[in-house]
Amino acid sequence: MNRGQLGVLPRTPTLEDESYLDFMESLRNQHIRAMFPKIMAVAEASDVESRPYVRTWKRLMRSQQQQTWQKLQESYSSRRAYYEAELDAAERHHPGRLHYDPAFEAPKYATLDIHLQPGGYCGDSLAGYVFHHGTKVFYQGDNDQDELHRQVVESVLAPADGKVTRVLDLGCSIGQCTTALKDRFPTAEVTGLDVGLPMVRYAHKRATDLGVEVHFRQGLAEDTRLPAGQYDVILAYILFHEVPERLFKPILAEVHRLLRPGGCFTVVDAPNNRNLPAANRLWLKFDAHYNCEPYSPAFVASDFTSLLGEAGFRIDSAGPTPTFLHCTTAVKA
Ligand SMILES: C[S@@+](CC[C@H](N)C(=O)[O-])C[C@H]1O[C@@H](n2cnc3c(N)ncnc32)[C@H](O)[C@@H]1O
Repeated sequence: MNRGQLGVLPRTPTLEDESYLDFMESLRNQHIRAMFPKIMAVAEASDVESRPYVRTWKRLMRSQQQQTWQKLQESYSSRRAYYEAELDAAERHHPGRLHYDPAFEAPKYATLDIHLQPGGYCGDSLAGYVFHHGTKVFYQGDNDQDELHRQVVESVLAPADGKVTRVLDLGCSIGQCTTALKDRFPTAEVTGLDVGLPMVRYAHKRATDLGVEVHFRQGLAEDTRLPAGQYDVILAYILFHEVPERLFKPILAEVHRLLRPGGCFTVVDAPNNRNLPAANRLWLKFDAHYNCEPYSPAFVASDFTSLLGEAGFRIDSAGPTPTFLHCTTAVKA
């Protein structure tokens, strides 16, 4: 069942899965690069949501997403014992690098089927495998070798004095930024933290396979249980739009507590813009209603820069990334 790697991307259990997912990737590409521009052209129309072409686009986007997860989940869960054993072996190989408390219970808000992935980030022990290949399709071939994660990590702000001893990747999922952070700050202790145990277990296995020495920890961004004032660099890549609005302030307070004075926080996420173009608003609404992204509209509507200021950060820079996202860098005053 181990069919090797394509660079940093492990191959799926069977060639048939790979062909199916290639097809799904082409479909998604078609829906986004060929169909959506036609929707953009009419997005200002008052009846846009009820137009057959737009309704068809929504149906196709949702079905493609559902079928991708279904295929992956069937394939991995039918070989569950093999993949569970792989995770266990990685854990035994480097026991000191993966930290979790078996008694930890993920809060309810974190257990939704985000992006329609059945069981979300917490519910299925093989969710990390499924997420890796599902997001390969999501990124439409642009991230097969973690290219986008590396790009994000290049935008991470480092302290002016150049001292980087500890780095934290908040909401790390399967650790693609975490391993890239280690490449960028090779002498630092780099930790990825995520609420999903299946995510950090897979992240640990992946890093072990790649030979990258990083730590993973199951925990909450709003209450990490990590020591105060010890971190030089913290990154949150697309975390905030996936947490309820009531957690924005607690997470910012926690990041502020963890950083040493002069430590840097980089947030890469959806743009905070109440005046988004109509086409972006339509996509956001689709995501919220049909792609299980219920928290993102509140993040987009928030005045996140002001929240950072209120939490004790000085904004260093803010602007769009080469993708549709936005990058804000801030320093603990
Ligand atoms: C969109 S994914 C982030 C992607 C990831 N940063 C990457 O590099 O691809 C959001 C992640 O945040 C995690 N998450 C959600 N709420 C969290 C919380 N309160 N504390 C820690 N992690 C959380 C989820 O489990 C999920 O893995």
